[in-house]
Amino acid sequence: MKLWILLLTASLVSAEPVSDPAKWSPEARKKTLEVFAREVYGVNPSDEVSRVWKLDRESSIMEGKVVRREYLLTLGGSLTARALVFLPAGKKAVPAFLGLNFRGNHTLEEDEWITKSNEEARGKAKGRWPVKMITDAGFALVTVHCDDFDPDEDDGFKNGVHGLFPPKRDEQSWGTITGWAWGLSQVREQLEKVAEIDASKVVVIGHSRLGKTALWAGARDEKFAMVISNNSGCGGAALSQRKKGETVARINQVFPHWFAKNFRKYGDKEESLPVDQHQLIACIAPRPVYVASASKDRWADPEGEFLATKMAAPAWGETLSKMPGAGESAGDGKVRYHLRDGKHNITEWDWERYLEAAKEHL
Ligand code: GCU
Repeated sequence: MKLWILLLTASLVSAEPVSDPAKWSPEARKKTLEVFAREVYGVNPSDEVSRVWKLDRESSIMEGKVVRREYLLTLGGSLTARALVFLPAGKKAVPAFLGLNFRGNHTLEEDEWITKSNEEARGKAKGRWPVKMITDAGFALVTVHCDDFDPDEDDGFKNGVHGLFPPKRDEQSWGTITGWAWGLSQVREQLEKVAEIDASKVVVIGHSRLGKTALWAGARDEKFAMVISNNSGCGGAALSQRKKGETVARINQVFPHWFAKNFRKYGDKEESLPVDQHQLIACIAPRPVYVASASKDRWADPEGEFLATKMAAPAWGETLSKMPGAGESAGDGKVRYHLRDGKHNITEWDWERYLEAAKEHL
């Protein structure tokens, strides 16, 4: 048995209250992912839908330093997602960040050029997407409104990506988070057609519910080169069995469409969960992972997010020692964690650290 398997086993066996994954191997990883699909996020049908990727428009911004594009991805002939792409001008095969956004591509910038998809104010989310910082660092940025893949509502799974497949559903059918994660993989695949991007160097990133999605997308799809979870909380990086902040019962009650129906069984019975979130993080190994919390984000349980990351670290042969204080980080290898001082959000302070780690790894 390899050393890191021993280390992981030892670390998890002694840790409370998390269950013991016992053996960790590519086979165990596969089985673990199957359990997460069946019991937590939901299983998606096989990928047999047509995909068409088309450049819709292009413009030059930031005094010619950045090329901005909109691509249309049509799935199954009927569902079209619009990807907004920023590329450092004049470069080929750059690494990229890919993440869903909450309220529409037009919330990234005030510029009227960006297609408006709803009534949300233009530029509303610009603080969360520091385009200049990202492109100056030599990275592309690709984003899609999450609603393009599935509207964030408990509306019976008739629309979005679910609507592309036969409507029959059961306890383990995919919820919205699996729909979003599946959508992210579809976009990642299409980036192979964009010469300015190196599709083998795509970092999947997300904040909050979209951080849960980034973790699940990155764990399932080994072609993502790195995974970043920002303030993802319950059903993301936080350990469910701690029952701190948002709980399994509460998340399923308020957001019944996010997970598989099966996940509801564990509300107030977290100890009977066959998996916990550190195992999802461990499924990302050996690719780099970065988990981050915010000090005032009690709802997402920062300690639970740190502990899960720490407990997953042996899968990389790494260790994280103690929970860092506000404004500090832990880990300088492939497993990293930071605790930003402040509220639930994703800020430039977070992005600076993600860019630093991504530069080192990619
Ligand atoms: C709610 C929800 C969280 C989620 C967050 C968000 O607070 O309870 O689970 O992470 O919304 O996505 O903003």
